[in-house]
Amino acid sequence: MIAYAMAKTSYSGEMVRNTKRVILTIPGAEIADAVMGCGSTTGRNTDKAEKFGIELAKIEGNSIKIPFHSRVAIQCSLKEYYKVGDHYLYICNVEQAYGNDAEEALFAWNGYSKLHPAR
Ligand SMILES: Cc1cc2nc3c(=O)[nH]c(=O)nc-3n(C[C@H](O)[C@H](O)[C@H](O)COP(=O)(O)O)c2cc1C
Repeated sequence: MIAYAMAKTSYSGEMVRNTKRVILTIPGAEIADAVMGCGSTTGRNTDKAEKFGIELAKIEGNSIKIPFHSRVAIQCSLKEYYKVGDHYLYICNVEQAYGNDAEEALFAWNGYSKLHPAR
């Protein structure tokens, strides 16, 4: 299992609660600027992939597309979720994990203010 938290207001969270499906990805360094853009915009009325020019790739047997430049993609089904303050904590069953070691993994530093590969 894997768990992650998202603000209650998040559109992504709403989609996951409705569909019970999610793919968690660690994006590649090449798309750092686009990732920061996506993290500062809601997808409620905007196609973020189009807006920030993110090339998408298909995962076999799943209708959710992921950024082509992903270091890791973890395909999950939602098991349950809990209210934790102003966030929901999502607990998911892991179905498949994919990796591409040609990509350098991006992580957030200083809260959400910086994105950088970890060394
Ligand atoms: C690098 C980065 C990491 C983020 N991580 C989280 C997180 O773990 N949980 C969260 O609720 N929001 C996080 N955010 C903020 C959301 O990405 C932001 O609220 C987003 O616009 C929500 O979009 P949505 O409404 O389409 O879900 C992060 C933002 C950035 C830039």
